Amino acid sequence: MLAGSAFMAVSDIGDRRPGALPDVPPRPRYPLKGRSPALVGRAAECRRLDELLDTARAHRSETMVIVGEPGIGKTALLQYSLAAASDFQVQRAAGAESEMELAFAALQQLCAPLLDRLERLPEPQREALAVALGRSSGPAPDRFLVGLAVLSLLSEAAADRPLLCVIDDAHWVDRSSIQALAFVARRLLAESIAIVFATRDLTPELERLPSLRVDGLEDDAARTLLLSAVSGPLDARVGERIIAETHGNPLALLDLPRGLTTTAFGGGFEPDDPQALPRRIEATYRARMAALPREIEQLLVLAAAEPLGDPVLLRRAAHRLGLDFEMISEAERVGLISSGEKVTFRHPLVRSAIYGAAALNDRRAVHLALGEMTDPGIDPDRRAWHLAQAAAGPDEQVALELERSARRAQTRGGAAAAAALLKRAVALSLDPARRVERALAAAQASLQAGAFEAARALLWPAESGLVDELQRARVELLDAQIAFASSRGSDSPALLLSAARRLEPLDLRLALSSYLEALSAALFAGRLAAVGGRARDVAQAVQAAACTGGGRSATELLLDGWASLFTDGCAAAEPTLQAALSAFTEGSIAAEELQLLWLATITAPVVWNQTQWDALSRQHVEAARNNGALTELPLALNSRSYIHLFRGEFDAASTLIEEARVAVDATDASLTPWGQLALGALRGRAEEAVPILDLAAADASERGEGISLTVVAWARALLHNGLGQYDMAVAAAEEALACPTHSAAAAWGMVELVEAAARIGQCEAAHEAARCFAVIAEAAGTDWALGVSARSSAVAGAGDAERLYGEAIDRLERCGMRVDLARAHLLYGEWLRRENRRVDARVQLRSAYDEFASMGMEAFAERAGHELLATGETVRKRTPETRDDLTPQERQIAELARDGLSNPQIGARLFLSRRTVEWHLRKVFAKLDITSRRELATALSRSEFRSVDVLSARSRVT
Ligand SMILES: Nc1ncnc2c1ncn2[C@@H]1O[C@H](COP(=O)(O)OP(=O)(O)O)[C@@H](O)[C@H]1O
Ligand SMILES: [Mg+2]
Repeated sequence: MLAGSAFMAVSDIGDRRPGALPDVPPRPRYPLKGRSPALVGRAAECRRLDELLDTARAHRSETMVIVGEPGIGKTALLQYSLAAASDFQVQRAAGAESEMELAFAALQQLCAPLLDRLERLPEPQREALAVALGRSSGPAPDRFLVGLAVLSLLSEAAADRPLLCVIDDAHWVDRSSIQALAFVARRLLAESIAIVFATRDLTPELERLPSLRVDGLEDDAARTLLLSAVSGPLDARVGERIIAETHGNPLALLDLPRGLTTTAFGGGFEPDDPQALPRRIEATYRARMAALPREIEQLLVLAAAEPLGDPVLLRRAAHRLGLDFEMISEAERVGLISSGEKVTFRHPLVRSAIYGAAALNDRRAVHLALGEMTDPGIDPDRRAWHLAQAAAGPDEQVALELERSARRAQTRGGAAAAAALLKRAVALSLDPARRVERALAAAQASLQAGAFEAARALLWPAESGLVDELQRARVELLDAQIAFASSRGSDSPALLLSAARRLEPLDLRLALSSYLEALSAALFAGRLAAVGGRARDVAQAVQAAACTGGGRSATELLLDGWASLFTDGCAAAEPTLQAALSAFTEGSIAAEELQLLWLATITAPVVWNQTQWDALSRQHVEAARNNGALTELPLALNSRSYIHLFRGEFDAASTLIEEARVAVDATDASLTPWGQLALGALRGRAEEAVPILDLAAADASERGEGISLTVVAWARALLHNGLGQYDMAVAAAEEALACPTHSAAAAWGMVELVEAAARIGQCEAAHEAARCFAVIAEAAGTDWALGVSARSSAVAGAGDAERLYGEAIDRLERCGMRVDLARAHLLYGEWLRRENRRVDARVQLRSAYDEFASMGMEAFAERAGHELLATGETVRKRTPETRDDLTPQERQIAELARDGLSNPQIGARLFLSRRTVEWHLRKVFAKLDITSRRELATALSRSEFRSVDVLSARSRVT
């Protein structure tokens, strides 16, 4: 604290004699490139950054977000990290206020130097990144896939040497880039990568990352810095006042006293206003500028309007304006800018001060010059942007250029940028019809970018413009789509339906897809759908419209089938629905129709077609993976896990469930963990399953996701039936049944109700449920449905039990639905025992017990075990075999490796870099005590989960 004590000496004598300045090291005037700035104070912050770098040196990755007000020293800390990372490779990017509308502008800066490694990325990541960065054309990539590609690229780059990525002014980084970078930061682990962001505010994207808030300098450090800035003597009281009023903000300490007489300083701050200090700093820059000749002021406005600091472009634009660019050296002399390879401002506040103070006409003039001097062949987007800023009123030509820019942004997956460009195009449109079209396109793009409020706001100009009937209907549709996307809310089905109706006479294709959307939304909202938006309402509207009459495409069949399910019942609907499913499995699905596969997939269990269920759910997952539609993946994986669960393949299901969990986490999706809760119910450990079910139900209610309430209710019924808690099972099953949408889970609830009600002597209820289910099964006509129906009828006492159980077992064996088969053995065995046919009962019960035990259905196994005991057979409990101590993630990675996936492929599945996968696998090898992938299969089967007591039967047949 040498310099600090020097100031103390000054202040000691300050009242009598302003002290002479001590020798302090000259401060850096401009942002340094990789050289350590002479930082005053900030020891703790520097230590955090040192640790971050050490972590990367030790082959682990870490992220930090430096947050603080303008001038507080964020860039200075970034420079410190750059200087401390001389053994690192370094990649940098910085946001610029005027570039927020350029898609992937920051990503371009960060990744461009690394693109020679693009070839090493797995498909489709390579293509996604190439398209996003405008190096290749293709379908607009999923934003999470772009993130994954960047993760892989950085990980490849860090293979030889640790990598430091520095992103300054992240608050101005374009949204597409920041989304991708935040994704990367969240998924890093074992790559030797350090990422440091600096930002004024924590945007939602950065909120979940570790952050470091930077406040004003401590008083000692502030004094030192202040002394280094003033060139003459400084009165101590004035010095203290400056320190107090600047709260130790370094930029203020350095730049406020400049040019002021010491006594003139002070006052004028509003301590509660966070903008007060930046405004004050800006004012000093404006004062400095005002002292310069008019021509230089214009040059500064020109430079402030040009985000790249490109001297060639600036020189040409200056020439165009009749200015001599060389004169800008005058501004350099007073410390406002530095010019060299690039023209840079002393601080972003200098730029904003100059730009903000410029007269509107001056701003327009410089933008016009910059636009005209920007090569439309090389940088059409910046050109269009400058010209838009230059336009004084509507200008169709410029609006057209913006529209083209928007289209380019869109094809690169930059929906947010497209929306912003189109919004400007709206303002510049002269022709009302075009204006409305652009507003609609802008709203659509905002919706796509997940900016729902912005999307809604954009619909206003469309509504207020001169619109025709079709446009009005499209506004309504968009409004409904925004409602659905933003909350999956319970009111969106009605809105979508109304839009579909309105579209019908105007645009049949659009009407058709809107009806489908309305149906999906209604099924999703289930019992929570608002009046007028129930699935039945959609069905009636579709029936009345008969807009699908002519064509017989897969989607038309699906819509027709569902409509007739509600209006004519399952027997009538069955052939159409089955035809729809066949059409889906036979045809191919366009990438933009992926979400239709969800509807098709959930239709399969509605008609109890397990073969189609298997085929469609597999197709859904594969299509989502192959198209890199990571946003769609959580839904696809969850549906797919069910077919495995019903077949008793819990390991395969667990893998998908874990993958879905990772996908939900990585993509911030809000979705009920359907697979997980069904698995929990099937395993039957109440203490694990119940909290998951409770949480899912609360969460689903809040989001208006009624479909999940039915699934949860069914899962509870199943759980309680396994545990022998039949009262609770009845209540839960009845709740599942109350679902108004013919969902598969409602029918499953019916089946649970039969068993539970029969067990507690509610014979009438059991009978009725069995009868209702028989109608569904009859219509479906599959072995699965008829097998379950035969079992249910037997349980309900509706017919010859022996024959019915026999039929159930036959059919369920044939279709491979193992869970239902084991339950048929159990119920048959229970019935036989009650009939006092102990020996026969034992055979059935032992089958049931063995099956439940080997699948891992603990509650049902125990129920079967008790029944067996009651027949006089002994069941010895064994403690579960100890399992290796692999974490769920390690187990999953090990299994994928065992199945032959390469490390990059595993990485792509689990949103991890190749290196993180390698790191996990090394730990797996150590835990399993193996040295090669080939040994994985044996080692894993050795450690296979055996959670259930295994029967060791010794018959005591009497
Ligand atoms: N701890 C420090 N010691 C010396 N100078 C500093 C310190 N922190 C910031 N500065 C200087 O203050 C000015 C503003 O800091 P900067 O890092 O650009 O702020 P920010 O990026 O937070 O807006 C720069 O000139 C910088 O060199
Ligand atoms: Mg900065």
